[in-house]
Amino acid sequence: MTSQPTPADKFTFGLWTVGWQARDPFGDATRPPLDPVESVHRLAELGAYGVTFHDDDLVPFGSDTDSRDKHITRFRDALAETGMAVPMMTTNLFTHPVFKEGAFTANDRDIRRYALRKTMRNLDLAAELGAKTYVFWGGREGSEVDVAKDVRAALDRFREGIDTLAQYCVDSGYEIRFALEPKPNEPRGDILLPTVGHALAFINSLEHRDMVGLNPEVGHEQMSNLNFVHAISQVLWHGKLFHIDLNGQHGPKFDQDLVFGHGDLLSAFGLVDLLENGGPNGGPSYDGPRHFDYKPLRTEDIEGVWVSAAANMRTYLLLKERAAAFRADPDVQEALAAARVPDLSIPTLAAGETYTDLLADRTAFEDFDAEAAAERGHGASRVDQLFIEHLLCAR
Ligand code: GCO
Ligand code: MN
Ligand code: MN
Repeated sequence: MTSQPTPADKFTFGLWTVGWQARDPFGDATRPPLDPVESVHRLAELGAYGVTFHDDDLVPFGSDTDSRDKHITRFRDALAETGMAVPMMTTNLFTHPVFKEGAFTANDRDIRRYALRKTMRNLDLAAELGAKTYVFWGGREGSEVDVAKDVRAALDRFREGIDTLAQYCVDSGYEIRFALEPKPNEPRGDILLPTVGHALAFINSLEHRDMVGLNPEVGHEQMSNLNFVHAISQVLWHGKLFHIDLNGQHGPKFDQDLVFGHGDLLSAFGLVDLLENGGPNGGPSYDGPRHFDYKPLRTEDIEGVWVSAAANMRTYLLLKERAAAFRADPDVQEALAAARVPDLSIPTLAAGETYTDLLADRTAFEDFDAEAAAERGHGASRVDQLFIEHLLCAR
């Protein structure tokens, strides 16, 4: 019954996800390297729409110009053969030891300048490949020792970096928007812009704030024990959902990067419902790529990698189907109305009404029966159970 994924579903994968060799802090790689060209072909066969990558995922760090060109040409050929798109690109500013103390916010000024140049070079490639979104995940922008990092100066340098790169895109005529990706910790003890809320506030301080939004990741908010559906709702409310990293996480612990839905499944269901049915007139609230940023389990061989890649898409589509059934169920509509969910969209003051009118309205205060109002139930349990029954295919 569930349709197979097709490019119309806009599913995308980072080359670093299926290509992860499963090296972790305690153990060596459990899988051989994967050729990006092979990933493009396999993901296309599975029904994906495109791939995303860090500069170093495609062109190994330190490659000379000749071999860089060769890697890019082979990759472009694979894109042309498969019809796969590259909607997003990003920079690796975290693997090489030069970035151990930070990139845009390193205490060392020459390293900051190098980080900007590395990013500019990859922005040129992003423009060539038609990527519309450029992600900034500041994995090394942070510290372990509070007094060893002047956080206010670091935020000045972060702002300087993002605004300088934004100006570079504007002047180059690149149609690229930036998406900041928050994460609370890992690899640094504490990372700057740790949550969606911090990043939204930071964007307001930018000169180029209009072209900067967010790339929130499911697991990163959940590492801070925050509600991802609420976070995305607020990002949408600010008009800043430029991209999204879908994966799974079991609450506050290390960044698990599980398959989408293989963590907090109820929250994943709520997220798909929000993305697919939370927009105007019950349509989608987000039309960008559904991007999976996950790590195939370290226990898997290469076959397991492709099983897990397919699992991300299939889980998403199953949840989308269940969310459509939830919204179409008359009992759900009735339960939502009984919980007065739609009433929240009615402005608190009537059209043209002022606070003076409100002060004159005795029914709003003097004659308001707070005790009686307090007795009303809200029926949220019924709504919750209907949601779960649809998830469990019980209705
Ligand atoms: C993580 C991050 C990274 C970034 C990616 C883009 O799991 O810690 O999600 O995977 O998304 O590196 O820069
Ligand atoms: Mn992650
Ligand atoms: Mn991510």
